[in-house]
Amino acid sequence: MKLHVLISEFCAGNPTKNIKWKNQPKRKYCSNHFCFVLFFPVVLFFMLLCFNHLFFENIKGFVYFHGKSTGSVTYFPGKLNETEDSCLGRYIYIHDLPERFNEDVIKDCQSITRSTDKYSMCKSLENSGLGPGIEALNASDLWKNSWFSTNQFMLEVIFHNRMKKYDCLTDDSALASAVFVPYYSGLDLRRYLWGFNTSMRDLSGIDLVAWLARKPEWKRNSGMDHFLISGRIARDFRRKSNRKSDWGSNFRLLPESENITMLTIETGYSKNDVAVPYPTYFHPANDFQVHQWQEFLRKQNRPYLFSFAGARRSRQKGSIRAEIIDQCQASNKLCNFMDCSLFNQCDDPLNLMSLFRSSVFCLQPPGDSLTRRSTFDSILSGCIPVFFHPGSAYTQYVWHLPKDHNRYSVFISSKDLRVGKVTINQTLLQVSKDEQLAMREEVIKLIPGIVYGDPRSRLETIDDAFDLAINGILKRIKVLTKN
Ligand SMILES: *[C@@H]1O[C@H](CO)[C@@H](O)[C@H](O)[C@H]1NC(C)=O
Ligand SMILES: *[C@@H]1O[C@H](CO)[C@@H](O)[C@H](O)[C@H]1NC(C)=O
Ligand SMILES: *[C@@H]1O[C@H](CO)[C@@H](O)[C@H](O)[C@H]1NC(C)=O
Ligand SMILES: *[C@@H]1O[C@H](CO)[C@@H](O)[C@H](O)[C@H]1NC(C)=O
Ligand SMILES: *[C@@H]1O[C@H](CO)[C@@H](O)[C@H](O)[C@H]1NC(C)=O
Repeated sequence: MKLHVLISEFCAGNPTKNIKWKNQPKRKYCSNHFCFVLFFPVVLFFMLLCFNHLFFENIKGFVYFHGKSTGSVTYFPGKLNETEDSCLGRYIYIHDLPERFNEDVIKDCQSITRSTDKYSMCKSLENSGLGPGIEALNASDLWKNSWFSTNQFMLEVIFHNRMKKYDCLTDDSALASAVFVPYYSGLDLRRYLWGFNTSMRDLSGIDLVAWLARKPEWKRNSGMDHFLISGRIARDFRRKSNRKSDWGSNFRLLPESENITMLTIETGYSKNDVAVPYPTYFHPANDFQVHQWQEFLRKQNRPYLFSFAGARRSRQKGSIRAEIIDQCQASNKLCNFMDCSLFNQCDDPLNLMSLFRSSVFCLQPPGDSLTRRSTFDSILSGCIPVFFHPGSAYTQYVWHLPKDHNRYSVFISSKDLRVGKVTINQTLLQVSKDEQLAMREEVIKLIPGIVYGDPRSRLETIDDAFDLAINGILKRIKVLTKN
């Protein structure tokens, strides 16, 4: 043992052996007595260390002295593994933002509610942001406890609540591979989108980046390791002019903001925005609920070849929706149309899910923007999505959907449709039963990765939309901060 050699070298009563001490007058003071006094505490320390090692190794939450030069102390999740820290490279630090950037925004939940919301945002905040639980029509287990009337804008709150339970959080930002900024960007903006001047809409974004840039965490990588989440599309934060009539805020055009990666439900052309799935109604609490739902979908009877839930966009020039609705109605034996301009029937999750569950294909044309929440509702129902624009999914959800989009979806060019080169029913009738089956199985397999699990529990082996987003962000930041 090294310690033993050390002690014997210094205290064997033959100090001349030690070259370092040779010819040094101090040598004579190293009497055996002195050495004992000097080394006794050292021996005691090593003994304690061994004792500790033998008896406390298996205790959860054991304080582990991290080997990094920072000398920081962290709590080890789960069993101590001396050879490898399972969180290494995955540590995330959450900025402790002033409450005006998050808690205060949702505290005033009436101010973020609009008349078009099915529920007030106060109700949507229930259940950690999942919204009110869906009351089942009958006591089927499938509908119990894991289905909620979730408002898509609540993604910021749901994601933040998941982040708080992330298993590799650290209080030491020097150890972190990424820094999460829990700013409720979209909810904050929602208060000022209508009837407010541009300075009101821009205020909190400017305030936020000023706060961030003053922090030591910023200086390390100029914010390149920071990320945040938005439940609104990226375009809402890229207002080009200061005219009041222009839409949105300028948050993502601020120089500091551009260095932060924003996870958003729809990206534009900016390289620092990455799309993640819209939240659906299903928020499983455990793996079993996911598998049970997948099994249920495999056995579904799907009497309709295709369906569409949506409304016309008469004010929008060049919208393909009118054509799609016309074609759906013209093939009424094959297509089921749910008109969302009537009685808010599309706001009812049970209605919508049962429409999609009884269809083989679900049409997903662009709406006000290129993407739709409906795309994820259709995947969740095992209904094969049909896209009319590559920006509706293929160029968006690169961490969550497979690159080979023919495996799980059908693409129909809007141009061909408009000029009458193709019809929807003919295109879909050409897909054989076997191909349908294979595609549906792909879609059903995508479900775990596009749902956000209930933040109050923990999925065991499944990587859900949150987990995939975190894996993606860690890989991305690693590349960004390398040079
Ligand atoms: C500890 O980490 C090593 C290296 O990754 C691994 O091979 C080993 O299985 C781990 N042991 C435990 C108990 O997790
Ligand atoms: C309720 O039960 C009936 C009969 O078992 C079933 O056909 C129906 O799909 C169920 N409804 C829901 C919402 O699960
Ligand atoms: C914007 O509106 C706020 C209140 O709504 C007002 O206090 C402020 O002066 C306005 N700013 C400009 C530049 O008009
Ligand atoms: C953004 O990041 C780049 C590259 O790291 C850096 O040069 C620049 O100063 C950063 N911008 C701000 C406003 O911090
Ligand atoms: C297919 O669609 C066309 C027009 O979109 C329609 O005229 C035709 O009747 C449809 N065929 C069937 C079998 O529904």
